[in-house]
Amino acid sequence: MKNKLLTIWLLLTILLAPALRADEGMWIPLLIEKYNIKLMQEKGFKLTAEDIYSVNKACMKDAIVQFGGGCTGEVISPDGLMITNHHCGYGQIQKHSSLEHDYLTNGFWAMSQEEELPNPGLSVTFLKRIEDVTESVMKGMIDGMDGNERDKLVNSNISGITKSATVGTGYSAVVRPFYMGKQYFLFVNESFRDIRLVGAPPSSIGKFGGETDNWLWPRHTGDFSLFRIYAGKDNKPAEFSKDNVPYKPAFHFPISLKGVNEGDFTMVFGYPGSTSEYVPSYHIDMVKNFLNPKMIVIRTKKIEIMEAAMNTEPLIRIQYSAKKAGIANSWKKWIGESQGLEKMGTIEKKKEFENKLTVWITADNARMLKYGNILPKYKELYAGLDEYNIVSSFTNEVFSNNGAEAVSFARNIKALAELIKNNADEDKIKVMKINLLETGRSFFQNYNIATDKKLFVAVMTMYGEYLDIKWQAPEYIKLKNSCKGNFLSIVEKLYKKTVFADEARFNAFVTGFNEASVAKLNKDPFYGLAVNVNDFLTENVRPELVRINDDLQKLNKEYMAAQMEFESGKIFYPDANSTLRLSYGTVKGYFSKDAVYYTHYTTLKGIMEKDNPDIYDYDVPDKLKELYKSKDFGPYTQNGEVPVCFIANNHTTGGNSGSPVINADGQLIGVNFDRAWEGVASDLAYNPEQSRNISLDIRYALFIIDKFAGAGYLLKEMTIIE
Ligand code: ARG
Ligand code: GLU
Repeated sequence: MKNKLLTIWLLLTILLAPALRADEGMWIPLLIEKYNIKLMQEKGFKLTAEDIYSVNKACMKDAIVQFGGGCTGEVISPDGLMITNHHCGYGQIQKHSSLEHDYLTNGFWAMSQEEELPNPGLSVTFLKRIEDVTESVMKGMIDGMDGNERDKLVNSNISGITKSATVGTGYSAVVRPFYMGKQYFLFVNESFRDIRLVGAPPSSIGKFGGETDNWLWPRHTGDFSLFRIYAGKDNKPAEFSKDNVPYKPAFHFPISLKGVNEGDFTMVFGYPGSTSEYVPSYHIDMVKNFLNPKMIVIRTKKIEIMEAAMNTEPLIRIQYSAKKAGIANSWKKWIGESQGLEKMGTIEKKKEFENKLTVWITADNARMLKYGNILPKYKELYAGLDEYNIVSSFTNEVFSNNGAEAVSFARNIKALAELIKNNADEDKIKVMKINLLETGRSFFQNYNIATDKKLFVAVMTMYGEYLDIKWQAPEYIKLKNSCKGNFLSIVEKLYKKTVFADEARFNAFVTGFNEASVAKLNKDPFYGLAVNVNDFLTENVRPELVRINDDLQKLNKEYMAAQMEFESGKIFYPDANSTLRLSYGTVKGYFSKDAVYYTHYTTLKGIMEKDNPDIYDYDVPDKLKELYKSKDFGPYTQNGEVPVCFIANNHTTGGNSGSPVINADGQLIGVNFDRAWEGVASDLAYNPEQSRNISLDIRYALFIIDKFAGAGYLLKEMTIIE
């Protein structure tokens, strides 16, 4: 009887397990064979783990790059052609743009390799191999070592590991902690530095829907741009040179024209930045009830000011577009995140879990010794963290992060002033001045003084209102008192006095900077303020923040261990940490709210429905309208329409932008670029019902390249599967 029951139970678990397991998780490529491939194949994947990640043969990992540090890109031709998002290449597209050549507005298409535009400073990184190095990192560790000793040992072990992993190879290497430091993996990388812009649609396609549609489904954004990786004649990384040649990758993604249907297997392979899935309820409480609300308020104000200015002049639009997009993106995510956490009852659920865990811990003396202190200690630490975090983040919003920009810019001159004070030698000073002038040039390129004055008044006022007086820097309090809190009344005077709000004055000041200038600098209203705020944070906020975070780090490791022991049957995926990960699942619509169901894809028809020349974000280019009218769609259709975007339940986060979205045959069907608002809290708690990643349908990219841009020659180098 017992045996029979056991068999039935075993059968049931095997049969039901895949269905019951949510498609949550960002998995380590090295461990797919061990943990994931069976389930992936059950879901429809037709290839093997070696096709995804291998060190023995060419595989998908050889076509994927971390793009510029923050995004993902993938190679789609044997000649190093690479696709990523428009918003990932945005900075580069903007840098090449001017009023005469406005590539943001009009798009850019190199019609031959000679026309491709170099991007100094941009690099892409391929992963060569991963290795579990936990044992080597822990080597020499003895029980009872104190925190500092442990850190020292770990760091010195790590630097030994990375050195020996790269010696004589031209590669670089990093070791990263996983599961809060329970495990360590080595990543050996190869970075290329000659990356050229090949093509970008106009913003009215690449950023269609703008901030209005950002983080939202249904979506109609053609969010892609094309770059090419160049290498030396030996196919190895090289500095930019006219003599460089297109990089020959070991693997490039074939592109499928077959289409995307609900229920299809899909996976995303890229570089998710960071998630916090295993934190205690206190953390969620901090994010949802302390941090997000204040951060949302101040950014709402800054965005309002920038938007109003951008609508007055095309030049200001170019200058502030990237800045605004940058701060608006997290702002909007925070709003969705807080709502999602509320709706899912994440705090309550975490508390429930913590109660169960506590019962389990207290039931056993050994466990009590090991884990008994974790939750009480968390409570104590978060009480402090809540406050220090807000002070630090909010102050940053005011004095950096595109708050009062001339004030934050002023801090750059401090190093020069120190050199002069310390009688440094002439050459050093000269170099410093040249660098500073360059910093100024790029700062003022995107600076509008009238807009900055408005930002200044707004954020200075809010700093005084939203932070307790004990967290306000002394110089600020002086300034506030001098105008009785009415910053509008002094703004003109301050901007007249400072040298940091006007390029010509700044350049003259830096060029002639000498001992006498130091005294003048100390009287500059923005310099004094900027330096004082920074000193204030350094003395009164940062040390405590560092201490709390150090303690938290240790506690997180213990908490992770406790959770893994408590649920020992479960396979845990590690939090994202900007290393290459695989997420998989299915193409799937979702209920947004009661009675509102969203299907899994959008089409060009939807773009025509949104068309509105009076709304900047919805101003459809005429050429696109003509193509739609004449139904000049080429082979890029499904059911008679051109598909634009689709959603799936792949677990993704910031950094996954530009990641390849791959079908069951290992072919490229899309480029990941966003998540749907309702499920955006998945950085803290994934919701199988509503967490959806948004991808550009690759056929829309091809349609735009071919039919809209007339750059169809690019398609010839791709491997397109009909
Ligand atoms: N929300 C996406 C991401 O987190 C897209 C951001 C760029 N698009 C925009 N409209 N700001 O990066
Ligand atoms: N747009 C995000 C990025 O730049 C991806 C969206 C997300 O956060 O999932 O990586």
